[in-house]
Amino acid sequence: MRTFQNYIAGAWTPSVSGRTFENRNPANNDEVIGLFQDSTAADVDTAVASATKAYASWRLVPAPKRAELLLAAAARLVEQKEAFARDMTREMGKVLEETQGDVQEAIDMTQFMAGEGRRQYGQTVPSELRDKFAMSVRQPLGVCSMITPWNFPMAIPSWKIAPALICGNTVVFKPATLTPLSAVNFVKVLDDAGIPPGVVNLVTGGPEIGTRMTMHDEVKVVSFTGSTAVGRLVNQNAASDFKKVHLEMGGKNVVIIMDDAQLELAVEGCLWGGFGTTGQRCTAASRVVVHEKIHDAFLSEFAARARALRVGNGLDARTQMGPSVSEAQLQAVMKYVEIGCSEGATLVTGGHRLESGDYARGWFHEPTIFSDVTPTMRIAREEIFGPVVSVMRCSSLDQAIAIGNDVAYGLSASIYTRDINRAFQAMRDMYTGIFYVNAPTIGAEVHLPFGGTKATGNGHREAGTAALDVFSEWKSIYVDFSGRLQRAQIDT
Ligand code: UN1
Repeated sequence: MRTFQNYIAGAWTPSVSGRTFENRNPANNDEVIGLFQDSTAADVDTAVASATKAYASWRLVPAPKRAELLLAAAARLVEQKEAFARDMTREMGKVLEETQGDVQEAIDMTQFMAGEGRRQYGQTVPSELRDKFAMSVRQPLGVCSMITPWNFPMAIPSWKIAPALICGNTVVFKPATLTPLSAVNFVKVLDDAGIPPGVVNLVTGGPEIGTRMTMHDEVKVVSFTGSTAVGRLVNQNAASDFKKVHLEMGGKNVVIIMDDAQLELAVEGCLWGGFGTTGQRCTAASRVVVHEKIHDAFLSEFAARARALRVGNGLDARTQMGPSVSEAQLQAVMKYVEIGCSEGATLVTGGHRLESGDYARGWFHEPTIFSDVTPTMRIAREEIFGPVVSVMRCSSLDQAIAIGNDVAYGLSASIYTRDINRAFQAMRDMYTGIFYVNAPTIGAEVHLPFGGTKATGNGHREAGTAALDVFSEWKSIYVDFSGRLQRAQIDT
């Protein structure tokens, strides 16, 4: 059995706890992927000290040089994409095509942020005064704590680490306990690419280390992706000493299907948006609001296609949907199926755990669709994070938009229509951070801002140049070359 270690100050080191935890395959619980360090607050302290020390020199490395290291890392990810994807499927279950996509997203983000090494534009503006120069520049903040989820085990760490590094910060990284191997793979690549010791530190373990990472004095930025409940704690922990906090949390994303939609396209979109990644994306299409004129036709086709999805081990090329990531996640799915039934929704297809034959050792569940869902039901309001889609009816676009907006979250939304006026109205009126026309709620690209409104986030965005705003802050600089005291306009 292989034991993996923390990575601190450029060395692979065991936790002071002397304890490890197991990482098991959700498609086959007999398979232990490895043992990982069950770290403590003391390990976090060592990692933060290492990141603090490294910051003194890393912040002075010219950004285009930092970019070269990121490009070297991206090249290594390209070389090892297949192996990393297989590791990821084994540790968290999504199908190989999607774990390849996850690694690809890390490649794209690392390359994109490397490009920012030659930009990071500030502004130069005319001064009010003669012989005075005025400009703004981005400056790094220092040590950043990154706390990442299991559903995109390499992509999401890259969304945080690559922009943090290109801006000149250093990193302490805690991956989800369900996906530490992908984190180790990513950090190894950064190390191989020549990122100096101490610039990126990896600590694996549970809530104790997360808490310390959000409260340590030397940590200046906390970037968290995960549940809204944990995000709230992160925010509270980090508030007392004014750390900069970026939160990316839950979603309850809606697909609106109007009566003029291309039905086949909408069905395909809902299948991919609802059941891709076993519904475990924060962008998942977990609600579908369909115009009453085409509701029945849509529902029967959607249900038939969902029923036909091949569920299984993600390493098998024929599999279209893998298991839930863990027993707890599967239990949550089963609980919501019960809730949906007891609330009076109609279970159209699915609704059961799969546990016979090849499924016996995994956390598999049928793709599940509820219809006759009303907007007040819990299955229409709460994030399930599993293969469960709630279908609702509407009689107008206004009503669909009202239903769409009437949830606590605001990550992603979409509309299927051939009417450009309706598309633009929904684009304007859905209060979300991401919106799609004639596409599902998933599929964000790395060079645009990613994040959501309301309880999904706290106003920041990752990806795109917006991510630079999380990992840098502005400094305005005035250079007076007059050789005498010049007072600003308000002071004269
Ligand atoms: C997530 O669901 O946590 O847009 C991230 C998408 C992916 C990223 C999803 N590119 O669905």
